[in-house]
Amino acid sequence: MCGIVAAAAGSNIVSVLIEGLKKLEYRGYDSAGLALLAAGGIERVRAVGRVAELQTAASGCSAHTGIAHTRWATHGAPAEHNAHPHVSGSIAVVHNGIIENYESLRTELSAQGYVFTSETDTESIAHLIDATLKGEPDLFAAVRSVCRRLVGAYAIAVIDHQQPGRIVVAREGSPLLLGLGEDGNYAASDASALLQVTRNMVYLENGDIAELTASQVRIERLDGTPVERPVHVSELSAAAVELGEFRHYMQKEIFEQPEALANTLEIIGGAHSIQAGIFGAQAAQLLADVDHILILACGTSSHSGMTARYWIERIAGVACTVEIASEYRYRVSVPNPRQLVVAISQSGETADTLAALRHAKALGQNKTLAICNVPESAIVRESMLRFITRAGPEIGVASTKAFTTQLAALFLLALVVAKQRGQLSPVDEAAYLDQLRHLPVAVHKVLTLEPEIAIWARRFADKKHALFLGRGRHYPIALEGALKLKEISYIHAEAYPAGELKHGPLALVDTDMPVISVAPNDELLEKLKSNLQEVRARGGELYVFADADSELTASDGVHVLRLPEHYGLLSPILHVIPLQLLSYHAALVKGTDVDKPRNLAKSVTVE
Ligand code: AGP
Repeated sequence: MCGIVAAAAGSNIVSVLIEGLKKLEYRGYDSAGLALLAAGGIERVRAVGRVAELQTAASGCSAHTGIAHTRWATHGAPAEHNAHPHVSGSIAVVHNGIIENYESLRTELSAQGYVFTSETDTESIAHLIDATLKGEPDLFAAVRSVCRRLVGAYAIAVIDHQQPGRIVVAREGSPLLLGLGEDGNYAASDASALLQVTRNMVYLENGDIAELTASQVRIERLDGTPVERPVHVSELSAAAVELGEFRHYMQKEIFEQPEALANTLEIIGGAHSIQAGIFGAQAAQLLADVDHILILACGTSSHSGMTARYWIERIAGVACTVEIASEYRYRVSVPNPRQLVVAISQSGETADTLAALRHAKALGQNKTLAICNVPESAIVRESMLRFITRAGPEIGVASTKAFTTQLAALFLLALVVAKQRGQLSPVDEAAYLDQLRHLPVAVHKVLTLEPEIAIWARRFADKKHALFLGRGRHYPIALEGALKLKEISYIHAEAYPAGELKHGPLALVDTDMPVISVAPNDELLEKLKSNLQEVRARGGELYVFADADSELTASDGVHVLRLPEHYGLLSPILHVIPLQLLSYHAALVKGTDVDKPRNLAKSVTVE
């Protein structure tokens, strides 16, 4: 959500800003802008719509220092006058996050004669910096004193045409990192924006403020204490964030799943036994007396948590609860210091999940584990234990490879907890590990079903609604399929545990309602078959994903696709793949913006 790029260099930085913004497009945005330190003052260009339009509007611009931004509208509509950067006097600012006390700041600054030209919370920051500079002319000191007055979440970058060559950045709550290059220094919301100029990244902490020039970087805490932050050499390759032969990032990421799973599972190597240490050095000690597991997450990550609940309770015999993070953080709950709190997040910056984790800790629940795809993210840094999924950068807004790698990590968690409690026999342990190791091959085989799934997608892409059914550990997979479909094709989709049909949703079923069913060959298949009969009897057209060895057969109004292998407890990881492909192909038929669906952002860093 919102993206920042800033650059101070020895040569023209306009193309660095534009290319950086393009790499941040996946975060979600509806307008873009940049501000440059030009000879005559600040040159600002803003455009509603895509970065490509900003690029056209900024062609011919040149500068050595500048800041740029993609805006995802929160306060005020997506319109040019609300787009960042916001300018006041000699300064320009870009901002990611939400300033909660902006209304009182706005009243105060209006009383001082400032005229607001946007509805944004950010404009108050711009005027406040300008007002502060009147008493404290040093930009670094002025921004520091403004940050002390801001309530809420922010990452900001500020330039001042009276102080050429300098950029001041600060963060509290929203992500921001520095890139140290040979020809200059840079800042951005994530590393992918800066790989074009450097691999040397410095992750700022909350409460850090930094100054960048083309040749120097200094970081302080808001109280004025100088700090050194380690330089990380990014392992991301530029190719990892390029589309390559694929039409969309979502398609690329679906097809990267065998490799993403293999990388994530590399940690178990060829071993026949699993060690708690894969979750962190303190894991064995911390998990020893865990009596309950509480999973906190949002969206797709919550679906991986819901699937894991079936594994954790069945394999480890430990009770597990999954809560939507945005609900948990505001609910009065009964704390349990012995429970393990697991925060699951692809980005590690999701505001609700981070706040829920902090809330859980504030209640004295300090056994925390992050399952996350971004090692330097806030959720990882604030958790005691960690498991980093190695899915690689996920650019498409619709989460795919992050989900399956989360599932792999959560299955490992179930095994580790089971082993600690003496619930896992060495034979089962070795068998589960073998199944995990075979997963990349099994997923690869499922991906070969794409042509048939594309034909299915064409059949129901003109429908207004769809119903997804699953049972047991495949119910969360049905939920995930429905979320994928609505997210990128805008077809209204709902998911139900199939046994719930008669309790209400069956009323929706008619010839216009495609019903997609996840039907693996498990202990609930016979029950599910009866549920499918109920749908067919009401004229609903069934699209059934079955296993190779199940007895389901196609007939009039019943379409059946068989997955190549029957995968037992790990079957949810295979069964979600066709649902991802189905949504992708339905979206292609509908011509939607697959990687950047309307109204959505990749990383939801505000509440
Ligand atoms: C999934 O396709 C979504 N775009 C969304 O539900 C996402 O999973 C959710 O916002 C949580 O994100 P996180 O995993 O980065 O915390």
